[in-house]
Amino acid sequence: MNRTEFAKVTKAIKNPAKIAIAIVKTPTEKFNMITLEWFMRTSIQPPMFAISIGHTRYSYECLQNNRFFNLCFPSQEMVEIAKISGSFSGRDIDKFEKTKVEFFSGKLNKYPILKKAKANFECEVATQVKSGDHTIFVGKVKHSWLDQEKKVLTYRDFE
Ligand SMILES: Cc1cc2nc3c(=O)[nH]c(=O)nc-3n(C[C@H](O)[C@H](O)[C@H](O)COP(=O)(O)O)c2cc1C
Repeated sequence: MNRTEFAKVTKAIKNPAKIAIAIVKTPTEKFNMITLEWFMRTSIQPPMFAISIGHTRYSYECLQNNRFFNLCFPSQEMVEIAKISGSFSGRDIDKFEKTKVEFFSGKLNKYPILKKAKANFECEVATQVKSGDHTIFVGKVKHSWLDQEKKVLTYRDFE
């Protein structure tokens, strides 16, 4: 065991890890997707997930106005969608149009449920806490969706 640079240690323990995509509503009533590696389950009852969003992200701006998000766990066939959602900003492009991602309207304010995903969790923001240059949004899960057949996308598939 050697004392090591923080970035090196976190990279070494990253795999296997899942990647998520959060879907948020824009101030112009469209939807945006952001790829996330910083998320976690935070409560059993009620079920809750936290997502950490950088202050420079368009998604951060979106979450100021519309206090819901859909936390999607992409399947292995969605690697390109995860890459695009993590490398373009919704300020510059409509990621739903660019990726042609298939979705249907969910039960919570009609936020999109991504059809080819492994799972989707429709969440309502319960609280938030600033964490340096990110803010952690904690959402209560209202509805959950699963496709038993799909294989979940991991960081390893992504790289
Ligand atoms: C694999 C991967 C993981 C990421 N994880 C996060 C994250 O946890 N939080 C975050 O704010 N940005 C994260 N990002 C960066 C955003 O996805 C990226 O900046 C995105 O373009 C922001 O989109 P937006 O401006 O439309 O919100 C990640 C990007 C990638 C490729």
